[in-house]
Amino acid sequence: MAEIRRPDDMVRITTKELAEAFIEKETARIREQVGNRKVLLALSGGVDSSVVAAMLIRTIGDQLTCVHVNHGLLRKGEPEQVIEVFRNQMKANLIYVDAVDRFLDKLAGVTDPEQKRKIIGGEFIEVFAEEARKLDNIELLAQGTIWPDILESEDGIKAHHNAGGLPDDLKFELVEPVRILFKDEVRVVGECLGLPHSMVYRQPFPGPGLGVRCPGAITRDRLEAVRESDAILREEFDKNGLAEKVWQYFTVVPDFRSTGIKGGKRAFEWCCIVRAINTTDVMTATVEPIPYDLMCHITDRITHEVPGINRVLYDYTPKPTGTVEYE
Ligand code: XMP
Repeated sequence: MAEIRRPDDMVRITTKELAEAFIEKETARIREQVGNRKVLLALSGGVDSSVVAAMLIRTIGDQLTCVHVNHGLLRKGEPEQVIEVFRNQMKANLIYVDAVDRFLDKLAGVTDPEQKRKIIGGEFIEVFAEEARKLDNIELLAQGTIWPDILESEDGIKAHHNAGGLPDDLKFELVEPVRILFKDEVRVVGECLGLPHSMVYRQPFPGPGLGVRCPGAITRDRLEAVRESDAILREEFDKNGLAEKVWQYFTVVPDFRSTGIKGGKRAFEWCCIVRAINTTDVMTATVEPIPYDLMCHITDRITHEVPGINRVLYDYTPKPTGTVEYE
């Protein structure tokens, strides 16, 4: 099959009309490629895999099987949103895999960041491969590859194939419905396909998820503190018009305790670090100046609503010298 490339003169998809034209053309191409064969998709709930799912559900319906692996490192409400949108609303064939214990057991006691990433990536492939082997007659694997992935892999910056690493008995033909699109175009197409705005315009989220925001050895209680504080931060950014203004914002709960007071008693608890950054190329980043009153309100909510947290700190470090994530 000839490699599909973005035509040099392709108009940037910025409107509903352009998105509809793309969807019409691409669905015809997908139907021709897939025929009556079956397709498998790892659906993380991120922008690219969600748009691929929506596109394929519209095009080939129940010839598509989506697998959503909950590795326990997702943000609050994410697995529920994937089930609601894809299984309940779009009537997709969705296999939900609760692999939380499996991942957290493997990660127990592991402190090295790269080792944590390796375990999360390796375990993900294993869980996905197990699910794939249970299914009959799957011939194709759908992927949310986008055009910058292709360009970066050609420039030798990074390998783009999400499927890289699948065992030899699972070699599928690839179907890549958003391959020629830039990220902003994927979002326009996603909204046109009926995906929720919050799903399509969400901030970047690393593959290893909250695992890199729970520095050192991940424990369930500290991970829960990251998840709950992140949910509060997101809610406050949404309410205060910062959610779509700031590139990326999250909380980190390091494995460090300090003395505090709660309910008149000594509370020896963790601190929660808030990070909010802006960037265009992610090579450098500046810090968003959060209004003082809002930061006080966020601090008040996190210290009162999240068990185990008695202080909130704001990270004023740009990239460099800091990276965006802590691990
Ligand atoms: P850093 O920390 O390198 O982050 O300044 C730059 C951007 O990349 C994201 N990031 C990751 N994304 N897997 C991912 O898919 C990872 O292991 C990973 N580490 C960092 C980070 O969230 C930021 O947007």
